[in-house]
Amino acid sequence: MSKLLYITANPKNDMKLSKGMQIGEVFLEEFKAAQPEVEIERWHLYDMDIPEIDMDLLYARAKLSFMGYTKEQLSEAERTKLDKMHALADRFIAADYYVFVTPIWNLGAPSILKKFIDNLFIVEKTFTNTDAGPKGLLTGRKALHIQTRGGIYSTGPMVEFEMGDRYLRKVFEFLGFDSLETVVAEGMDHFPKLVPEIMAKAKEQAAEAAREMAKVSVTL
Ligand SMILES: Cc1cc2nc3c(=O)[nH]c(=O)nc-3n(C[C@H](O)[C@H](O)[C@H](O)COP(=O)(O)O)c2cc1C
Repeated sequence: MSKLLYITANPKNDMKLSKGMQIGEVFLEEFKAAQPEVEIERWHLYDMDIPEIDMDLLYARAKLSFMGYTKEQLSEAERTKLDKMHALADRFIAADYYVFVTPIWNLGAPSILKKFIDNLFIVEKTFTNTDAGPKGLLTGRKALHIQTRGGIYSTGPMVEFEMGDRYLRKVFEFLGFDSLETVVAEGMDHFPKLVPEIMAKAKEQAAEAAREMAKVSVTL
């Protein structure tokens, strides 16, 4: 059975509180209608125990990659954390469709998203190094990013300051994904009277993105 991973990086634990999650639900409803047999798994990053690259993980990686250690020679803490990192990456890789829902925070994404993505950069698992440079191994996949913004970054002086969607785009390009589409709902704090209009447009775009994603049958 194919699986869609629906990943939210927002501490808001009630969909009604988050405009991004409301847009995300429209995506899910539309996707489910078009692809009812695809399993949907929700990962609310703030509810997950996500390994952090701390001293143990730093050393585990270094010991295995260039210090000549075997996995058995790692300390128990190093091995446990490394196993957790690999298990999370394996669960991520096992999906077929991906949706990320994030707000822009201080020009980027909430830091928990970076912590999560640090678990996906595993050499010979998600990318490899070739003579021509690094090459992503997660090919044939499509992702959607739904991003909410208080201000405007699609035009005007802030264009170059947006680093949340750009970060995700580059991460998944690096890891080999075919594409990362984005639905943006922007200007919602700066233009509160326009919120209904901005939300309606973003929901329509999310529904359209769902129909498009559902057309792609993923056979990995
Ligand atoms: C800590 C924090 C930082 C924020 N930083 C930015 C920012 O840099 N640029 C921006 O346009 N909006 C910023 N915002 C506003 C949110 O992106 C905006 O309110 C968004 O609509 C929230 O989406 P949500 O309702 O799904 O949580 C910030 C909000 C918070 C709480």
